[in-house]
Amino acid sequence: MLAIARTIYAEEWASNASAYQAQGVYDILSEHAAQAGDIRALLDVGCGQGHGLAALRRAFPAAAHLIGIDENPDCLEAAASLLAVHVPRSNIWRGRDEVLASGRYVSTYHGSVQIGSDGITLFQSDVVVRDSEIERVLDTVGPLDALTLWFSGVHKARSATEIARHFEIKSDADHRTLVEDRALAIAGERLRPRGVLHIVARAGAIDIDRVAHDMRLDYSDWLKGTSFRVESIRAIPYDEPADGIVVRSKNSRVSAMPNYAISVLIRREG
Ligand SMILES: C[S@@+](CC[C@H](N)C(=O)[O-])C[C@H]1O[C@@H](n2cnc3c(N)ncnc32)[C@H](O)[C@@H]1O
Repeated sequence: MLAIARTIYAEEWASNASAYQAQGVYDILSEHAAQAGDIRALLDVGCGQGHGLAALRRAFPAAAHLIGIDENPDCLEAAASLLAVHVPRSNIWRGRDEVLASGRYVSTYHGSVQIGSDGITLFQSDVVVRDSEIERVLDTVGPLDALTLWFSGVHKARSATEIARHFEIKSDADHRTLVEDRALAIAGERLRPRGVLHIVARAGAIDIDRVAHDMRLDYSDWLKGTSFRVESIRAIPYDEPADGIVVRSKNSRVSAMPNYAISVLIRREG
C-alpha cells in the first residue's frame, strides 16, 4: 500500500510541480532565496521531483552542494531525470518498509549515500526518522548556507504509518508542522550564521496582505527563543492545475479564492 501510495503521489505531484514551473513560481522562489547571499551548500527537505533544485541550480550555478532528501523514491527518480544527473539506485532505494502486527508501516533507511560529483546529491530518507546517513552527508558537506522546505505534502498512506501514530498526525497541517519543526532543528544544527531557512506554504486568500501578516506573526511566534528571525515574506499568485493534488478545500467558496505561494525567508542571526 505504501509503495502504491508513493507512486500515485509522485504522478499527481508531477502535475502540480510542472504547472508551478510553467508559471515561473520556482524561479521567483529561488530569487527570494538569493537574499541569503551566495549559496554554495543547500539542503532541500522534501525535494520532490527536483523542480526547486533545478531553479536553485540556475540561480546558483557555482553551488558545490545541492542536496535533496525525499522519502518518496518515485519522486527522486523523476528528480534525477529532470536534473539530468546520475544518481545510484542505492541512494534512491534506501528504504525498507515493514508491516507491524498492528498493521502499521515502519520504514527504515539503509546503505551509505554517495555524494554526487556534479554538485547534486539526491537520496531517500525521512527527516523525521533517525538515519545516521543524513548526519554523515551533512558532516561531509559542512555548514549550510540555506535549508529549503518548499511546499509540504505527503502521500495518503502516511496515516497508516507508525510515524503518524507516534507523532499523532491527523491532518496535512499536523504533518506540515512536524516537518517544519524538524527542518528548524536541522537548520539550528547545520546552518552557518546568517544562513537562511526558506519555507514555502500555500494559501488561498482574498485579503492576501492580511494572510501574509498573520503568517509572519505565526512564524515569529514559532521562532521565539531561537536564533532565527523572519526576514521577509512574499506572496506569489499562481493557479493550481485541474489534475494535480488538491491542496485546498473542495468547498467551492474556499476554492474560488486566489492561490498564493507564501514564501517565508527566515534568517539565522550572526
Ligand atoms: C508537496 S511536495 C514538494 C516537492 C518540492 N519541494 C517542490 O517544491 O516541488 C512534498 C515532498 O516532500 C516529501 N516529504 C514529505 N514528508 C517528508 C519527510 N518527512 N521526509 C522527507 N521527505 C518528505 C514528499 O514525498 C514530497 O515529495
